Amino acid sequence: MKEYQSTVLLFYFCQVVAKKIIITIDGWSSCGKSTLAKQLAKELGYLYVDSGAMYRAITLYFLRNNIDLAEKKEVKEALKSISLEFVFNPKSSSSEIYLNDENVEYVIRDMVVAEKVSDVAAIKEVREFAVAQQQLMGKKKGIVMDGRDIGTVVFPKAELKIFMTADNAIRVQRRFKELYEKNPNVTIEEVKDNLEMRDYIDSHREVSPLRKAKDAIELDNTNLTEKEQFSKALILARDKIAQLK
Ligand code: DC
Repeated sequence: MKEYQSTVLLFYFCQVVAKKIIITIDGWSSCGKSTLAKQLAKELGYLYVDSGAMYRAITLYFLRNNIDLAEKKEVKEALKSISLEFVFNPKSSSSEIYLNDENVEYVIRDMVVAEKVSDVAAIKEVREFAVAQQQLMGKKKGIVMDGRDIGTVVFPKAELKIFMTADNAIRVQRRFKELYEKNPNVTIEEVKDNLEMRDYIDSHREVSPLRKAKDAIELDNTNLTEKEQFSKALILARDKIAQLK
């Protein structure tokens, strides 16, 4: 009898410990979504997935292979040759994206890719290809994914949805700083134009436009430090996890 009771107790203990949620972080370009998502994933021991990296890697493949975006058949064929994988790199303490076994985590951040990625991400077939893989990654929950349609399309039933915003000028400054470190030839005007163009295309496209999900919590980080924004989000996450018990 005692043995039976402890087995039952152990079973319930494991259930409680194993309770995990899905956290989605959507928002405008350069709002700090990935910084927050990485911090949350690390703290909670969850998987972090940068969905934008998938669209960027697909764009890189299309650019390298001169795929004509207007040709549906060509796009569909090209997608068949693309394999995407996230591999955790202990050095950067983060998962990095591989395109057909090549680590492209850094090259996909180039301006050449940034200039085309919104057009590629607006293609229905590309979205179907990426969304199917994203949903598989979330099957076991315990995931933090950032992007534009994660709370609305990829995981509409996610337990915690965060929608991030920040003033345009701040976002441009942050992005410029990031790019300038890698390429001092980049100009602030170039960065501003690219950001505005991407925001426009991302929020006006026909398929899965950027929207705040009805049940998403807005987090404006214009006047927040990284630490403050992380504390706020962590409280929200812990609340949601506690509600499951
Ligand atoms: O988050 P990011 O800037 O790396 O995203 C690159 C592009 O991919 C961005 O212009 C919008 C698009 N994207 C998308 O359409 N849906 C997502 N879930 C993630 C990114």
